[in-house]
Amino acid sequence: MKNEKYWETWSTEELQSFQEEFIAWYEKEKRNLPWRVNLDPYRIWISEIMLQQTRVDTVIDYYYRFMEWFPTIKDLAEAPDDRLLKAWEGLGYYSRARNLKVAAQQIMAEFNGQMPETIEEIRQLKGIGPYTAGAIGSIAFQIPEPAIDGNVMRVVSRLFEISDDIAKPSSRKVFEEAMYKIIDQNRPGDFNQAMMDLGSSICTPTSPKCEECPIQSYCLSYKNNTMTNFPVKSKKMKPKDVYYIGGIIENKKQEFLLSQRDSTGLLANMWLFPITEITKERFDFLQKNWAKEDQQMSFDFEEQNMVAEDTSEIFEEYPEVVWQKRTLGEVTHIFSHLKWHILVFYGRQTGLSELAKNQRWVKEADYSNLVFPKPQQKMVELFEKDRKNISNSRKNRKN
Ligand code: ADE
Repeated sequence: MKNEKYWETWSTEELQSFQEEFIAWYEKEKRNLPWRVNLDPYRIWISEIMLQQTRVDTVIDYYYRFMEWFPTIKDLAEAPDDRLLKAWEGLGYYSRARNLKVAAQQIMAEFNGQMPETIEEIRQLKGIGPYTAGAIGSIAFQIPEPAIDGNVMRVVSRLFEISDDIAKPSSRKVFEEAMYKIIDQNRPGDFNQAMMDLGSSICTPTSPKCEECPIQSYCLSYKNNTMTNFPVKSKKMKPKDVYYIGGIIENKKQEFLLSQRDSTGLLANMWLFPITEITKERFDFLQKNWAKEDQQMSFDFEEQNMVAEDTSEIFEEYPEVVWQKRTLGEVTHIFSHLKWHILVFYGRQTGLSELAKNQRWVKEADYSNLVFPKPQQKMVELFEKDRKNISNSRKNRKN
């Protein structure tokens, strides 16, 4: 029957044995993770922020380094912005890092440098919503507060056949209600982490491993064989496509041109090869036509000959500044609401043109001093691959 709240049908005994069996499973199976070595709220906070939108395996190395660089809330509150972004480089969703620093400053100013210990106060910190407050409160301070993320909603929706759309914010309260009912009052932090672990290792999105599940006998969708009908989730809006041309431009001193992004907005303050937004029509035109340009260009490049200026229409986004243009390929990157398509080319600087205020020539050895977002890292990789191909084909020709 739809919309029945099955958790209300559980007896006290049933609830108790459910909790005992679930916590026993967690005790036995829990992973050794660096944020589980003690109950320091600062360490738990940082881990929970990093784990939003990023997988555990990826987070671990970032986490160790972050703790080394910023061992206390005070260190984080005083962190230089570029160092902080460097610590986050490659993790994405950089506003998480900026919010962490603001929240650390709040804790220094308003809470005497100590993480507050009530859900209401934790919620006042920048970047902390109900999930993170629940995670910190339950794990660090044993407050019986649920921590509901996508994994937990999947587990709970199957456990009780909840058919509310998990993509809708208004569905949250039904999951909260169920979680308040089943959370272990004495060990809420372990209970929440057991939920997270179950969701990532057993109660997975497409092929849940129900045979290994410690709470199989309590699970309504296991009983009815409806696991794959849950959770109910409406389709996300497709991210909007945005098209760019990107230039990897080298000067005679083997330095590369980099541009710093504005101090607000997407990828604020981070460094990229210069990219210029173009229309989809122009993108398609360039992509279609660059193959025939390329044959000529790569040949010229390999021969290291001076060539006549390319007169084609291609790459007019980068006028007389470059010659020996070569196309390298396309880089794509999806942000939460945008999909970037960058057509990347390599070119050498010829004439002098003034650098914009936000631009700089940088040696490759100095890249590590700047913060590169993912699309920039992908452009660097594309260039590396291309360079390797060229040097291989040169070697082959000599042999
Ligand atoms: N995902 C989010 N928080 C987590 C935690 N504390 N342990 C494991 N996975 C998580």
